[in-house]
Amino acid sequence: MSAVVERLKIRHRLPAARWPTREEAARARLFQPARIGPIVAEQRTWVPAMVPWRATEDGFVTEEVLAWYARFAEGRPGVLVVEATGIRDVASGPLLRIGDDRFLPGLRRLVETVREKSAGHTRLFIQAIDFVAVRRRPDTEKFLRRFLEVNSALRRRLTNLTHDAAWLEADEAAVRERLVSAERALLEAVLDARQLEALDYGYRERIWDTHLPHIRELPRVLPGLFAEAGRRAREAGFDGIELHYAHAYTMASFLSRLNTRDDGYGGPRAQRVRLPLEVLRAVRARVGGDYVVGIRYLGDDVVAGGSDVEDAAWFGARFAEAGVDYLSVSKGGRFEDAKQPRVGEAVYPYTGRSGYECMPTVLSDARGPFGRNVPLAARIRGAVRETGRDTPIVTSGGIGTFEQAETILERGDADFVGAARQSLADPDWFRKIRLGYGHLVRRCEFTNYCEGLDQQHKQVTCKLWDRVDVDAPEASLTRDGKRRLAPPSWTPPREVP
Ligand SMILES: Cc1cc2nc3c(=O)[nH]c(=O)nc-3n(C[C@H](O)[C@H](O)[C@H](O)COP(=O)(O)O)c2cc1C
Ligand code: SF4
Repeated sequence: MSAVVERLKIRHRLPAARWPTREEAARARLFQPARIGPIVAEQRTWVPAMVPWRATEDGFVTEEVLAWYARFAEGRPGVLVVEATGIRDVASGPLLRIGDDRFLPGLRRLVETVREKSAGHTRLFIQAIDFVAVRRRPDTEKFLRRFLEVNSALRRRLTNLTHDAAWLEADEAAVRERLVSAERALLEAVLDARQLEALDYGYRERIWDTHLPHIRELPRVLPGLFAEAGRRAREAGFDGIELHYAHAYTMASFLSRLNTRDDGYGGPRAQRVRLPLEVLRAVRARVGGDYVVGIRYLGDDVVAGGSDVEDAAWFGARFAEAGVDYLSVSKGGRFEDAKQPRVGEAVYPYTGRSGYECMPTVLSDARGPFGRNVPLAARIRGAVRETGRDTPIVTSGGIGTFEQAETILERGDADFVGAARQSLADPDWFRKIRLGYGHLVRRCEFTNYCEGLDQQHKQVTCKLWDRVDVDAPEASLTRDGKRRLAPPSWTPPREVP
């Protein structure tokens, strides 16, 4: 990451769009088939994973989940990736889960729905995620009275700062009450960095907290958990599984230069990539060679001391050599630089600078948000090609026009073009372009109303359509009855074969 961080204060306009005729579109690279390991996608159009917060509290597929993916399937992208889905069988709120066979019937229905609504044209993958604990920011008094660990180091610091040796032996409750009445400056001096972070941001585990037994054990348990998720993805009928090695979560943290584990799974690159490769091999062994296993990971962590594109290029080459079927490149979205949450809320990894780079908006620096992450994909693609592999590379980030997509493919910067928010704004956009109705595309404005909903774990919708025809009989609405959950369906103006 550049040491000089430009301020994000330039408001960019959407790039002008020239839409192709149907004949031009038919010849375009974007609409040509491409191989992904053992399968072929009909087009190079790709909808990356997006969590819409529509699962049940215990992780099951709902009618709303089905309706959400049905709507994307109607646009018939080459590939649709189902949202981050938990690989463990533990409570994780309304996040889809694939950590037990009881989730299979719902996941099978999801696969059938997408097959039917895309008329078999779309390839469907599911993203498998693991994450470690992140707690909400506590109320200060509650934290000091209940959660703070009063250990001997803390007592020593309090003693030194107050010149009162009584704190070394004092009753724990008395120490807590002294801290409750303390000024901020004293708290900052008495609490260590992690305790202060837990107070200001909420307690958050790191994958290098190897003093915690469940964290130390991650390399032992994760290959098996991901492998089982792969087996279930295959049994449910998905065309492939995407291993979530990106953003703020467990596997991205193993890859990060910030990973200081000293058990052979941290430090130098070769050790940071060790568990991600072991997971990949375990999944491959379980699903077989004839099933797609892809990886989504970061082209750049975009946090101080984190991995950069040279790390990512090296990792990409190792993943390709190990037989991954595709690499989907994202950027940032880390916890390290996230903004302080309000009391009672959890830290959100898409708020700081790294969050901006993950989902860039029109309020940007001189470079602007459009196609901003493409150079990372291009660099990784180059490194992978040098290994002699033709593993396809997926790029995403601020892509919303045909010309952007076509130029990326023409220049050989990537093999698939991902569009998350543009597809949320208009799930039919690829189909509209393909059929010569590009002028009807509802263009994403890249102002992140949808991301704001995601942050609050509210059902994700788009501001361009969620208040349209809310009274229509076919419209299903959010729990508060104010927003529609999916845009109205689109039928081509004239019949197209
Ligand atoms: C509401 C929302 C939810 C998202 N959920 C995920 C997710 O589950 N997994 C993931 O890898 N990326 C997730 N992303 C990031 C997108 O896949 C994508 O990388 C990012 O939005 C940048 O691409 P875009 O400019 O085309 O939107 C999410 C993005 C949004 C807006
Ligand atoms: S809410 Fe805004 S940023 Fe999100 S998809 Fe819609 S137009 Fe794009």
